[in-house]
Amino acid sequence: MNQPPVIAIDGPTASGKGTVAMHVANHLGFHYLDSGALYRLVALASQQNGISPSDYGALGELALTMQIEFKNGLVFLGNLDVTEAIRDESIGVLASQIAVYPEVRDALLALQRGFRRSPGLVADGRDMASRIFTNALLKVFLTASVEARAERRYKQLIAKGISARMNVLLQDLQERDARDIQRATAPLKQAEGAYLLDTSKLSVDQAVEQVLSWYQVASRK
Ligand code: C5P
Repeated sequence: MNQPPVIAIDGPTASGKGTVAMHVANHLGFHYLDSGALYRLVALASQQNGISPSDYGALGELALTMQIEFKNGLVFLGNLDVTEAIRDESIGVLASQIAVYPEVRDALLALQRGFRRSPGLVADGRDMASRIFTNALLKVFLTASVEARAERRYKQLIAKGISARMNVLLQDLQERDARDIQRATAPLKQAEGAYLLDTSKLSVDQAVEQVLSWYQVASRK
């Protein structure tokens, strides 16, 4: 059976892959999966339920049973709008800590694959190409230098009125990169067959154009 096409965009924290993925999805009229949001939801739900970050059994169970919904650009956990709450830096750090457990990753597998619906899906994360959608029509590894990423994150936070320090952000990104790259289960890496897109010196529009042009070529094959 022909499955709807998937564009898998993986990359490190704050590489801009979410923004690029969303623009590509909008342009093509495709669905969009922000898989990082799922790990963030597990992190937030674990905090709310008083589950220890090392209790992988309970975390896996939570990932299977949590009630979540993505609606009109908002994210709900149960009846609660948690769109802002899951973006907190502390939740990002906790998400990357619990994402090392196979119990959590396995629990989110079917949920993620369920986002593949007609006419197509753009999925962003760490293991979209290497594990979740191995038969994606297009695989992109989107990255940027750690300095460029820290600067982008800094500007985002300041624009939101949140105070931030460059050296703290840099260190946080490096630690998160190390955890994502070094973990045994589904580590962050450029998947076989994935195009490398370094956005350090590219605008969002340029990065989106590049992905769209690769997609055009891939869908003609
Ligand atoms: O992409 P984002 O920063 O929202 O993801 C939060 C954390 O979730 C990441 O630091 C990473 O450890 C984890 N994650 C993952 N696999 C994915 C998406 C996110 O391990 N597919």
